[in-house]
Amino acid sequence: MADRALITGGAGFIGLHLARRLLADGTDVILLDDFSRGRTDEEFAHLRADVTVVEHDLRLPLPPDKIAPVDDVYHLAAVVGVRRSNEMPARVLTTNILATVHLLDWCTRTSPRSVFLSSTSEIADGAVGLGLATLPAGEQVPYVLPDTRLPRASYSLSKVVSETLMWQGGHDFRVRIGRYHNVYGPRMGYSHVIPQFIERLLAEENPFRIHGAHQTRAFCHVDDAVAATVALTGLPGAGPLLANIGNDREETDARDLAERLFAVADRKPDVEVLPPPPGSPDRRLPDLTALRGLAGYEPRIDLDTGLRRTYEWYAANRREPR
Ligand SMILES: NC(=O)c1ccc[n+]([C@@H]2O[C@H](COP(=O)([O-])OP(=O)(O)OC[C@H]3O[C@@H](n4cnc5c(N)ncnc54)[C@H](O)[C@@H]3O)[C@@H](O)[C@H]2O)c1
Repeated sequence: MADRALITGGAGFIGLHLARRLLADGTDVILLDDFSRGRTDEEFAHLRADVTVVEHDLRLPLPPDKIAPVDDVYHLAAVVGVRRSNEMPARVLTTNILATVHLLDWCTRTSPRSVFLSSTSEIADGAVGLGLATLPAGEQVPYVLPDTRLPRASYSLSKVVSETLMWQGGHDFRVRIGRYHNVYGPRMGYSHVIPQFIERLLAEENPFRIHGAHQTRAFCHVDDAVAATVALTGLPGAGPLLANIGNDREETDARDLAERLFAVADRKPDVEVLPPPPGSPDRRLPDLTALRGLAGYEPRIDLDTGLRRTYEWYAANRREPR
């Protein structure tokens, strides 16, 4: 267990849940964020008393003396989300790569024990989409960039470069890379399908629109993702490690997801099926053999339980109507 840990992007969705977990383990937690997205809401304000907060934009170098050395670093800071990748691809690419370069430079000077990089399932999407790999996707799937003109590819490309900087950097610290697959839970923002469905259910949308009803995903509750992240980061051994992080037990399509949420909300709207969002893969499913073998990981939170908790959080924390 670490005495001191740094979480970049610590005010964001996974970062805040990870901070809570580390605090519960007795770790001193430092959260670094530029607050471009990380929320300064009530939950963050509540946590603030128990952590050290450093406001810094990782597009700029992190001076070595800005933060005292730590045992473990969790690098979660990134510009995230399909909409942002489509609207500002150059910003996604440069921010995510610069953030990794600057963080690794700081780590080289301060010598932590382990550095965890949050990477993404989207690295496998290109090869799977072109039939060059099958699902469930393992970590060895080749990275394929089908067309450099696709703005959405900026995100996976930024993560491939970040992984390479970690893996090939000849670092003295332990390199740990986790590729998150569709993590969901309370306080995840509004740019993903689950909170969007919940928000429209709370607004009593009827007919209820489902884009790409046949598209399947395997959703992983944030508490499971955090448990896997901490387990992977804490593994002994000097060599670098790469593992998918997700939940492969309950692959579900968008229609079934909506119906599970209808049951939680006790509503029965009509359904309007619409085409899938452009560029969205039909299926995504992780092979978790590596994570199970390395960390003895098993997801614990089933989809209905996780959806209910997430729905309840959004129902209690509704934002202003848009
Ligand atoms: N949520 C998922 O399902 C998922 C899936 C794959 C990968 N990931 C990765 O996990 C990490 C966390 O994702 P999340 O869902 O919590 O996203 P999030 O957007 O909630 O959190 C990211 C945080 O990074 C901060 N940030 C952005 N640019 C920064 C900069 N230049 N300097 C400092 N901080 C900056 C934001 O303010 C935000 O608080 C990201 O790296 C993301 O790519 C998440």
